[in-house]
Amino acid sequence: MSKTRKDKHTAAAKTLALSFDTLCIQGGYDPKPGEPRVLPIVQSTTYKYDDIDHVNRIMTLREFGHKYSRTSNPTVSGFETRMNLLEGGAAAVATASGQAANLLAVVSIVKAGDHILSSSQLYGGTFTLLNSILTNFGIETTFFAPDAPKNEIEKLVRPNTRLVFGETIGNPGLAVLDFEKIAAIAQKHGIPFVVDNSLATPWLCRPLEHGANIVTYSATKYIDGHATSIGGVVIDGGNFDWSNGKFPDFTTPDPTYNGIVYTESFPQTAFLIKARAQTLRDFGACLSPLNAFLFAVGLETLHLRMPRHGENALALARFLEKHPLVSWVNYPLLDAIGRRRAAKYFRHKNGGGILTFGVKGGLDTIRVFVKKLKVAALVVHVADARTGVLHPASSTHAQMNTEQLAAAGITSDMIRVSVGTEDINDLIADFDQALNAI
Ligand SMILES: Cc1ncc(COP(=O)(O)O)c(C=O)c1O
Repeated sequence: MSKTRKDKHTAAAKTLALSFDTLCIQGGYDPKPGEPRVLPIVQSTTYKYDDIDHVNRIMTLREFGHKYSRTSNPTVSGFETRMNLLEGGAAAVATASGQAANLLAVVSIVKAGDHILSSSQLYGGTFTLLNSILTNFGIETTFFAPDAPKNEIEKLVRPNTRLVFGETIGNPGLAVLDFEKIAAIAQKHGIPFVVDNSLATPWLCRPLEHGANIVTYSATKYIDGHATSIGGVVIDGGNFDWSNGKFPDFTTPDPTYNGIVYTESFPQTAFLIKARAQTLRDFGACLSPLNAFLFAVGLETLHLRMPRHGENALALARFLEKHPLVSWVNYPLLDAIGRRRAAKYFRHKNGGGILTFGVKGGLDTIRVFVKKLKVAALVVHVADARTGVLHPASSTHAQMNTEQLAAAGITSDMIRVSVGTEDINDLIADFDQALNAI
């Protein structure tokens, strides 16, 4: 049974003591008699009021209510609440993309002059955001090897470090984050631990239960699950003390909201309210109601799809391990460290749907192999019901130099496979014929 907390922020929230699987289907939307059974798409930017004081109360955060769909919308709220219930958080906010989710999470905490500590095993877009774009705004990031000893990582903490970032399963390095180690460093130094859980999903891992304070998602991935929509989510665990002296923007009056002090007005959801009311309002990367609807539908089968993704990935990994043209295979359940971490942090005996492998013979061989695939396709995407392959070094991570690629766990012979939910025999036969055609 999932333990859920009361989310005072989102309109449709209510305390439910339902299992994860039921929350996937019904969480966040509770129709009254005569209302649609399915979360409706409210395709409206605008909400009507009769009373000027009512609008003022909403605009000054003295009362919750929809005012304009850049900061909230009933369909988007339904999706946010479902995600929050699945994650066991305090509150959630949806964004236009996973990239926007990570940006929203980070810039709601740090500002010019601050420092970020991040795992080097990251999605290429997140790496670029931290390594290049944010430096233009005076925010510096130091990257650490996620499996480095604790004391080595801790040495990188500076007086101005304001958050630690990592991916539950690095994309595409596939290292499973050592939550205990990173959470201990974050706690000791009074800084929040932000985790991108896109490749794991709350079905496989709930980072808040392992010391994370904020969880981000590219909902584009398994939340959608069918490659139809771009979107993201940020979830506030409500478990970080923003008044520890390091985060004055949370504890001093915000002039853009008539001097509201987030930690005083919203003790449990200070981060989320700031992220929505201030950062989302001003950066504007909100989720559309149609995409929120599609994600809510996607979530209805998350608990059914994820076991199959993992079973197929493990079976394909085992097949590839034995193939003479394959030089190596990486999948979280194949090596001892990955298995140990999965046993400790994952909610099911499953390593997720992504694997990587090396093809003997270099890039020319890879080109032939990819062309010969018939069931799997070359796509710049992961976490689709359809199997996809990619050569990260020349695509999602092409902007990295050799050193950065190595730190991200990427080699030039690496093919990343996002294993879908097709019949595993068809997938194995497809990979077999494509490899044999080299
Ligand atoms: C782990 C991870 N985080 C974030 C993103 C960015 O998400 P989006 O493409 O929805 O902007 C991606 C995209 O592949 C990803 O793999």
